Amino acid sequence: MSTPPTPASDPERFKSGQRETWSDVADGWRKWWRIFEAGAQPLSDRMVMLAGVGPGARVLDVATGIGEPALTAARAAGARGSVLGTDLAPRMIALADERARELGLANAKFRELDAERLDVPAASFDAALSRWGVMLMMDPLAALRGMHRALVPGGRAVAAVWGAKGTVPFMTLPGDVAQREIDLPPMPPDLPGPLKLGRPGQLAELLREAGFERVEEERFETVLAFASPSEYSAFLQDLSATLRRALAEHSVEARERVWRGVEREAEAWRDTSGRIVFRNEVRIARGVRGA
Ligand SMILES: C[S@@+](CC[C@H](N)C(=O)[O-])C[C@H]1O[C@@H](n2cnc3c(N)ncnc32)[C@H](O)[C@@H]1O
Repeated sequence: MSTPPTPASDPERFKSGQRETWSDVADGWRKWWRIFEAGAQPLSDRMVMLAGVGPGARVLDVATGIGEPALTAARAAGARGSVLGTDLAPRMIALADERARELGLANAKFRELDAERLDVPAASFDAALSRWGVMLMMDPLAALRGMHRALVPGGRAVAAVWGAKGTVPFMTLPGDVAQREIDLPPMPPDLPGPLKLGRPGQLAELLREAGFERVEEERFETVLAFASPSEYSAFLQDLSATLRRALAEHSVEARERVWRGVEREAEAWRDTSGRIVFRNEVRIARGVRGA
């Protein structure tokens, strides 16, 4: 089995791998959007509120995926405002653009851009957002510094990441099953990944290091609910780039074993409504660019 590239061994190959994997799952994000966003929309609303986005605001969204929180910000900024959503994966950007057009949000534009080299004009945005993006980057500090540079003095940045291991059950269940079923090694702690910046205070610390002032962090809860264990498993298979990468070199049989195990263990999350319900921790940090 070949060793996957790590940021340290080959940063460019690692990044192009990320670009491809995220483009591969973009249609999955589109397919499952309604279910995901039923849980995730309140986070976009909270972020847009914390960033003070109102009519006329110019907003930057970094690692927007198929367009959140960019599209929520576009609604709040109104026709006089504007939103630029950016992402590494071209297919994500294409779908974000398509959704903006479907929703009639002409003030939202999307551009393929690496967040670690955020090539946007300095001091040209009132708010900068990033939902579930920075923890996936090799150099999250570079991304946050880029957001800082992009803001006008007094502009606000708001970033959100998943909480630490043990607080995000919908995400860790399949990895735990895969470790048991097929001996999948745990994610090396030095690699970027979904739970990488989730320790309380960690994201706030990075914002301070990036130059932000008046930094505050808060806990948020994202509830994801599925009609059945098989719906949950199908959702993960279509949508999780991290899992897809981790399982890519295993046999079809091994992968089947993992997904059957996931469905079995998901039963433990069935609540009184009969649905499979996961309550997941999110850390939101915000900071202001000083004068
Ligand atoms: C978990 S998705 C989140 C997408 C969206 N913000 C949301 O909350 O629905 C993470 C996104 O980060 C993007 N991403 C990863 N590394 C990136 C980088 N270095 N620069 C820009 N985008 C990146 C991926 O392409 C993917 O679309």
